[in-house]
Amino acid sequence: MTIAQWLLHIRKALIDAGIPEDEAETESELILRDALGLDRVQLHLRAMEQVEVCVAEKLESFVSRRARGEPLAYIFGHWPFFGLDFIISPHVLIPRPETEGLVEMAIGFCRQLEVKSVRAKVADVGTGSGVIAVTLAKECNLQHVLAIDSSTQALDVAKKNVEKHALAGKVKVMEGDLLGPAKVPLHLIVGNLPYIPTNRLPGLQPEVQWEPRHALDGGPDGLDVIKRLLVQARGKLASGGIILLEIDDGQGEALKDFSAGVFPKPRVSVEKDLSGLSRYFMLESP
Ligand SMILES: C[S@@+](CC[C@H](N)C(=O)[O-])C[C@H]1O[C@@H](n2cnc3c(N)ncnc32)[C@H](O)[C@@H]1O
Repeated sequence: MTIAQWLLHIRKALIDAGIPEDEAETESELILRDALGLDRVQLHLRAMEQVEVCVAEKLESFVSRRARGEPLAYIFGHWPFFGLDFIISPHVLIPRPETEGLVEMAIGFCRQLEVKSVRAKVADVGTGSGVIAVTLAKECNLQHVLAIDSSTQALDVAKKNVEKHALAGKVKVMEGDLLGPAKVPLHLIVGNLPYIPTNRLPGLQPEVQWEPRHALDGGPDGLDVIKRLLVQARGKLASGGIILLEIDDGQGEALKDFSAGVFPKPRVSVEKDLSGLSRYFMLESP
């Protein structure tokens, strides 16, 4: 079959598996591009070329895995984030566009920090694949980033991404509970920690059920892990330092109230994402 014929074949197989038509269209192209190693333009320019047998076998395997519901990021073993490519495995959350918004805000803060970014001490708590730590270190030329997670298997992926992006020595991957491994005052604590209320997990879309539960489950109100982080951060945030966390829409007020009992006179705010949802919690220590 030619590339063009494969496009139609994959699209139909995905629709037959229950994937909505517009997603099947996009995904069939992504599957072909990944298997052939082509960008979008090359794929269309070479539409009439025959696909080799070894690639055809790979395509069949990709399609049957996707038809069973497995997310593309786990099938491909890598996924884009903030214009960079990251190794991904089923032991880590698949990076989301909302988290790119968090990273954009963090970049803004790193550039405003009173200390020069080369001296700034930054922690990415709940680093997973390491996307936040790696992107921030690259974008802001940070030299001291801790990438912390409690999952050994997630950290194996984070280490690979630190190496892939040539950041060994700048991003230190550490296992521990929240800020436990951080021994010096931090200028920026950033994180996308679990914040989904436990009882909402079964109702989330089927792809999310493939992702590690410890990456998603935030306890009864979704805020168990984040509240523990804020308590730990009280003793670890440098004066004038910032905490920046991804949250769910509607959790901001509860976190503002909670912070007022933890930090003396904190400056807190909740920022919206591109869809107008309140998704980012910010706390600045006086
Ligand atoms: C929502 S995922 C985020 C992963 C990555 N930062 C991202 O944005 O794609 C949350 C991560 O927090 C980690 N985590 C959960 N509880 C933790 C804890 N108590 N201490 C450290 N990491 C924790 C999970 O293992 C998971 O990798």
